[in-house]
This record gives sequence, structure tokens and C-alpha cells, in this order.
Amino acid sequence: MTKVKTAFFCTNCGTQHSKWSGKCNACNEWNTIVEEVIIVDKQKKTTLGDSRPKPVLLSSINVEETPRISTFDMEFNRVLGGGLVPGSIVLLGGEPGIGKSTLMLQVALNMPEKKIFYVSGEESYGQIKMRAERINTGFNNLYLYSETNTLSIVTEAKNLKPDIVIVDSIQTTTTPYIDSSAGSVSQVRESAAELQRFAKQSNIPFILIGHITKDGSIAGPKVLEHMVDVVMQFEGDRNHGYRILRTSKNRFGSTSEIGIYEMESYGLREVSNPSEILISHREESTSGVAIAVNLEGNRVLMIETQALVSPAVYGTPQRSTTGFDARRLNMLLAVLEKRCGFRLGAKDVFLNITGGIKVDDPAIDLAIVASILSSNEDIAIDPGFCFAAEVGLSGEIRPIPKIEQRIAEAQKLGYRQIFISKYNLKGLNQQSSTIRIKALSRIEDMLSEIF
Ligand code: TYD
Ligand code: MG
Repeated sequence: MTKVKTAFFCTNCGTQHSKWSGKCNACNEWNTIVEEVIIVDKQKKTTLGDSRPKPVLLSSINVEETPRISTFDMEFNRVLGGGLVPGSIVLLGGEPGIGKSTLMLQVALNMPEKKIFYVSGEESYGQIKMRAERINTGFNNLYLYSETNTLSIVTEAKNLKPDIVIVDSIQTTTTPYIDSSAGSVSQVRESAAELQRFAKQSNIPFILIGHITKDGSIAGPKVLEHMVDVVMQFEGDRNHGYRILRTSKNRFGSTSEIGIYEMESYGLREVSNPSEILISHREESTSGVAIAVNLEGNRVLMIETQALVSPAVYGTPQRSTTGFDARRLNMLLAVLEKRCGFRLGAKDVFLNITGGIKVDDPAIDLAIVASILSSNEDIAIDPGFCFAAEVGLSGEIRPIPKIEQRIAEAQKLGYRQIFISKYNLKGLNQQSSTIRIKALSRIEDMLSEIF
């Protein structure tokens, strides 16, 4: 017989308290006391019996390829590392309104041969039906359940025996063992732990949708992220149609893969050739635009960088960026000032990465420098040019990884010339490429090459 009790613990010093209070009187920390479930199992205390696990010799373990449940969403599959692993827990986080519920409903509806159990604590049946109609695929094997109590969820899942369970969202679920309100640290942890126990027992994969906090991390305890097998983030600019799915943790695959979607009026569209959408289609060439050959995960993306350099109106010049680290822009400007003699200190510089995505591959540096120079001179860069190199503090153009892959992609997309670092030339097989490769060693050399 399992008896459940709860108690209050300080997360800072671990002291047990009989009731909640704002301040722990043992360590004097504020807001550290949380309610926790203590399961008192009488039988466990006596002897373990013969059912306890025995140590296993590593060499005697048979490894078969884990059979994965493949979804019909190629982007989602790739980010997962090839599909859902039975019994695993996937946590999907993202800003409100970014499309988490839409993505999950769409993934579920595209698998008519699988039985899906879709638990929603946020929306009514009518709302979900309306969304499903918008996405407009056959919906014949999806069971909706509007419930927040984890005991009922687990009981229904036991009866229904679904192939996949989706819970929208983990912050709305509650376990009856704990009194604190839904979404609180202890509720989120206990509910997730309960669902996880069931997932491992039944071998049914769970996808949990999670809210995020103001700073972008998943709301609730950090231990939630430790508990689950895969942590995914669905991000993007709400004003642009693009959404990027990425993983920050994946026990069954790489965390470097990304999936790209576009939000349409009929749901999310998988974008299989992202380079096309990330480059604006312009008729005539304009100044201040340069194309970077970036790597996101194992995927090459052609990204358009736009710069606007204009004389500073106010005393202090403004620097503003979207999608790029502002400190790195300042560094690149300082390098330009010192090495190319540009008086950029008296100019406002605005930088924009099109498509509303955030870039952190340093290979974008050279394209940024080129777009700034182009806007400053007001001379357009040939639209057939693209750039892939990092810029160092002394103005040297530095090599970047996976250069062959980038060159191949640029060539495939019809670019005529790619600017790379001289140090990337070593061991590079240039025979097969029809694209012209321009190797540079310093940013001073670039000026004469691009204009
Ligand atoms: P939603 O999936 O409800 O977001 P989350 O669960 O992350 O809070 O996001 C829906 C948003 O997407 C909403 O603002 C409307 C828009 N949307 C579309 O543009 N097209 C569609 O087909 C659907 C279903 C939603
Ligand atoms: Mg939602």
C-alpha cells in the first residue's frame, strides 16, 4: 500500500518545514521553500526480495537499433534524430503564440495510422477542432482529452493504449498529491515525474509542451529539463512567418540539427530549402546587402545580412542589430576603423539579419563586414557573391569549419563567387567546383575584390 504525504523543503539548505513560509528560518533565504511529495511505501522498507535488478556485464548486452516512431514531418524527425523513441519524453518550449500547439497537432494529424492521445489543459475541444480544420488533414485517430489531473491522464492513457501522448501544457497539469497551484515549481516537477514514470513503464512516448519564462528558459524547475530525454525550443520572430525548431538536449541524437517552418494560414509548412526564403528576392542590386554562407547544425543556410551606415545625427553614434550580437558588431566596426581607416565612429550603423532568425555562427562576420562597407560606399555588391569567414581582432580573415559543404551549397544555389579565408584553402579540392573561390587573408584586401 502506497501512502502519499507532502512536506515543505528549503531548496537552498534542505531543511524540512511543517508549513510554507516566505523565508527559510534555517538559512534566512527568501522564496526557497517548496512543497514536495514523500511516498511512504511500507513494503519497500522491509526487504527488496528477488525482484531487484542485478548487475549486467556490458559485453553481454545486445544492442539493436532503437526502433523509432517516424512522424510524417521530416523537419521534426530530423531534429529528433530520426523519430520518436518509445518511452521517451520530449519537452517542447517556446514563446506564447509561436505555434507549439499548432506544430504538435499537425504532427499528430499527419499520422493517421497511429493512435494519438492529445491532452489539452489549455484549450476546449471546440478550439482544437477548429484548429484541426484549419490544418485540414484527415483526423481519424486522434483522441482529445481536456484534463489537467495527471492521475486521470495516466488512467485514460492506460485504457486507450495510444502510440503517442501529447500534453499541452505541462504547466497546466496538477497532481492531486500536492496542494500548490498549477505551474508552481513543485507541481510541475511532480506532474512531470508522474508522467515520466508512466512513459518508462508503458514504453509510450510523451511530448510535453512547456511554457517559457521571460528570459527564455522553460518555466518550472531546472530538474524538468534534466528529467526529460529531449528538450526542444520552437522559436522565431512572431512578426515573420519563419519558425525554427532546435534542441538543446537530445539523448538520442545530435543537438545541432534544426527544422525550419513557415506559419501559413493552414498551419505550418515545412521549409526544405531554407536558403531560398532567407534571401529576399530583389530585382536590382542595392547597396548594404551581402550573403553569408552559414551553418546551422549540419545544414548550410544562405543568409542575407543588411547594413545601413549613415552619418550620426546625435552626438553618440547609434548601433542597432537584429538577429546578431551587438557586441560583436561593435568589435567588427572597431576592426574596420583600425584596419581600413573608415571613420565609422561618426556614423550610425544598423544591421539586420533577414528572416528574423538569430545567428551565432562566426562565419557570418565577413558578410557583415562586406555589407557595412557596401552601405558606407553606397556601392552594391554583385548578387552572385557570397561570403564565409570569421574576422579576427587584427583584421585577419580566419578559417571556418566545413568549408567544402558550404562551397558546394553556394554552387548548387547558383552563386558565382565565394570569399573564404586563405587558410581554408589547405586540402581543399577545387577541381570539382565551378564556383570561383576567392581566398583572402586580411580585410584590407577585400575592398578591391568586392567593388
Ligand atoms: P499556437 O499554436 O496556439 O501557439 P502556442 O501554442 O505556441 O501558444 O499559435 C497559434 C498562432 O499561429 C496564432 O497566433 C495563430 C497562428 N496560426 C496561423 O497563422 N495559421 C494556422 O493555421 C494556425 C492554426 C495558427
Ligand atoms: Mg498553445
